Amino acid sequence: MGRVVGPGGSDALQLDAAGTLRHLLTLDGLPRPLIEGLLLRAAAFAAAPAARHATLAGHTVASLFFEPSTRTRASFELAAQRLGAATLNLEADRSSAVKGETLEDTLLNLQSMGVDAFVVRHAEPGVHARLARVARPGVAIVNAGEANLSHPTQGLLDALTIRAHQGEDFGRLTVAICGDILHSRVAASAATILTTLGVGELRFVAPPEFLPPAAHAHRNFNDVDAGVADCDVIMMLRIQRERIGSAKVPDDAEYHRRYGLTAARLARAKPNCIVMHPGPVNRGVELASEVMDGPRSVILEQVANGVAVRMAVLDALLAS
Ligand code: NCD
Repeated sequence: MGRVVGPGGSDALQLDAAGTLRHLLTLDGLPRPLIEGLLLRAAAFAAAPAARHATLAGHTVASLFFEPSTRTRASFELAAQRLGAATLNLEADRSSAVKGETLEDTLLNLQSMGVDAFVVRHAEPGVHARLARVARPGVAIVNAGEANLSHPTQGLLDALTIRAHQGEDFGRLTVAICGDILHSRVAASAATILTTLGVGELRFVAPPEFLPPAAHAHRNFNDVDAGVADCDVIMMLRIQRERIGSAKVPDDAEYHRRYGLTAARLARAKPNCIVMHPGPVNRGVELASEVMDGPRSVILEQVANGVAVRMAVLDALLAS
């Protein structure tokens, strides 16, 4: 499969003048046809998870993670391997970053060795764009998590999972994102892609201190019972403790009582409502175990779709 081409050239850094995707830095501003093209490609990979491909044979994909990761890192690596690419996993805490080398210099060195794509997770806003500016033409930067700002492949896998269960007409759907939205890049990218795909109603359900300033057209709820009522999709988020001063982290039991998704609360949503979570889950805090392991949970499908989405993104960026 060849490159994904969008109609415009709105984002000079990630789209070239012809609207072709050169890097995946953010979902913000990505044209809807380009997003739908990626989802279509991902759906084809998801339909045949055991298939192995050779479209990236001869390519090398490097991972540079400066924040912890289980799912994202593993799924990018598997995705690259299933397309026939070689993979290089750099331990950020053991790389030359600790000796004072700039990230740009690390990139220039690795691209001299023939690395074709860099999958990067970083706590600092703007790192991915900085790297895209110095990367040689043809070398792709892929955002695998940027501060609390964006996590584009997570947004894509969330949209793919919703479509598989609730259909392609997002205009019919009411989606609630619940929990620590303020500190969550998952929420930010989900809100962007849902808005781009024309979601009917987007709800942010959280304690006041976890609600972000208005950015997307959404309804805010402080009360979970009201927020999840009649929803088609509930996306739960963990409290991002690493981004909050310890004094502000709420008590687990109290948080669960007030904001956790329990079977009783889920019963207020539509009967076919799906329950999502990007992981890692804090069982018994934001999500009751019986809901996580129950029939409405699609959490492990999200994980499987993560591999397919990352295959679609790498294929779109690198396969000629
Ligand atoms: C998320 C992340 O790192 O942003 N995890 C993931 O990629 N699936 C969510 C989280 O850490 O809560």
